[in-house]
This record gives sequence, structure tokens and C-alpha cells, in this order.
Amino acid sequence: MRGLKEMNVIVTGGAAGIGAAISRRLAEEGARVGIFDLDADGAERLADEIRAEGGSADAYAVDIADWDAVQAGVAKRADDAGFIGGLVNNAGWDRAVSFLESDHDLWRKVIDINLYGPLNMTKAVLSRMNEEGRGKIVSMASDAGRVGSSGEAVYSACKGGIIAFNKTVAREMARTGIVINTICPGPTDTNLLDSVDPSGRLKEALAKAIPMRRIAQPEDYPGAVAFLLSDDAGFITGQTLSVSGGLTMAG
Ligand SMILES: NC(=O)c1ccc[n+]([C@@H]2O[C@H](COP(=O)([O-])OP(=O)(O)OC[C@H]3O[C@@H](n4cnc5c(N)ncnc54)[C@H](O)[C@@H]3O)[C@@H](O)[C@H]2O)c1
Repeated sequence: MRGLKEMNVIVTGGAAGIGAAISRRLAEEGARVGIFDLDADGAERLADEIRAEGGSADAYAVDIADWDAVQAGVAKRADDAGFIGGLVNNAGWDRAVSFLESDHDLWRKVIDINLYGPLNMTKAVLSRMNEEGRGKIVSMASDAGRVGSSGEAVYSACKGGIIAFNKTVAREMARTGIVINTICPGPTDTNLLDSVDPSGRLKEALAKAIPMRRIAQPEDYPGAVAFLLSDDAGFITGQTLSVSGGLTMAG
């Protein structure tokens, strides 16, 4: 992919699941990856693994829900690696429960991570990109934000919010050379899905509902992310791309 060599990219939630697959792929493309994760040990392990394979990666223990921690983490990454040319808002969290049974403590945690998290990261990185007049942001939302998902009402609200937020910021930044796009994963074989579906029965049912008849693997996403960070995507902004085996087909 053009333009990824030496690009300094932050991947949030890069220690596990989809974020780890994205971090590995970006490093393979020659990018310098800053892995931001709550799980400091997991992030460090992945950074070690990427470096052992000849790539460039550094780990940062950051809670994306904490604005002060985000500002400090982004400043440290810029000190360590220079201009931050790319941001992948990937970290997310949920616990499945019907809306009627959910309470404010759960809402707050879901909103802090899935909505405030990307807002915090985008704000901290975007002001630096704006000074340089270039940069690319990709956020991992969810098909839940496009079509809903039972047991995930507040999470879906956050993901729908991210889709709309990215479109709006993409418009505000359109004349600066900064592009902002959204990818919507479908059900994916990661810890997050295991935590909402410990029996595995939901996964079987979901696979039947997906036109391509399988749930996703983390490796289904990095190609689309790399493309949207690359020079080839320089004229694409404010778009929402579902990568979900045909689960949703939005016009
Ligand atoms: N797995 C799915 O079925 C699925 C479906 C649609 C969308 N998504 C989205 O894809 C993204 C990645 O999900 P995943 O399935 O790989 O999840 P995962 O649970 O496997 O990994 C998430 C990573 O984010 C980190 N994280 C969580 N909260 C954080 C915080 N506050 N600050 C920093 N790091 C934090 C975790 O430590 C972990 O390393 C999320 O945004 C998720 O909402 C996942």
C-alpha cells in the first residue's frame, strides 16, 4: 500500500483481537505502530513480537476513556516517534444485557470506552494533524451501529454515534487534507464476542445469518484499515464501510 512506510500510526486496543491483527499488518507494511492499550503487558508482548519480526512497534499503557491519560500518551508518542500521521480508533468493550435490565453504571462504562474513548483520541491527535495539514483517521465502529444488536443497546448507540461523529468531523476537516472514515465489523471471533457469548450458541446463530456463512476473524479487517490509511484513500472521507460478510448492505 502506498504511503504507509514510516507512517507513525497509533492503534488503540492494539494488544488483542482485531487491534492486534491491525497492528501486525501495519508493521508489515512498514508503518511505525504505537499500541495504546489498558493491557500494558499484552501491548508490550505484541510490540516485542513485531520488533522480533523486523517491524517497528512501541507499547503505551493508556486508558482511552481518561482524557488526561490520552493527552499524555499522545504527547509521549509524538516525542518518541514524531508526527502522528494515522490513528486507528479500535479499542472497544461491551457486556450483553437487555436494555430493560441495564443500569446507569453499565451505561457509563460503555459510553466512556466506546464513545468518549474515540472522541478523546481523535481530539488529541486531530489538533496535531491540523497543524501539519495532513493525517488519516479510521474508527472501528460496528454493524450494531447501523442495524442494532439485541443486548447491546447502549453499545449500539455509541457505535452509531461514532459513525455520525466521523462524518461530521470529516466535513469539518475536509479542506485541511485530513480524512476520516469508519469501518463496521460484524461478529468477530475475539475475546469481546466470547464475553458476550460464553456458550458459543450465539456465534453459530450469527454465522447462519451472515450471507457468507461465517463469523469474521481479526485478519478480515487489516487490509481495509491499511487501505484507508494509505495514499490511495486520499480522496475518500466521511465514509462507512461494513466488513461483515454481507451481514448489512447499506447504500
Ligand atoms: N468482536 C466483535 O464481534 C466485534 C463486532 C463489531 C465491532 N467490534 C469492534 O471492534 C473493536 C475491537 O474489538 P475486539 O473484538 O478486537 O475486542 P477485544 O476485546 O478482543 O480487544 C479489545 C482491546 O481493547 C482494549 N481496551 C478495552 N478498553 C480499553 C480502554 N479503555 N483503553 C484502552 N484499551 C482498551 C483491551 O484491553 C483489548 O486489548 C472494538 O471497537 C469493537 O467494539 C467487535
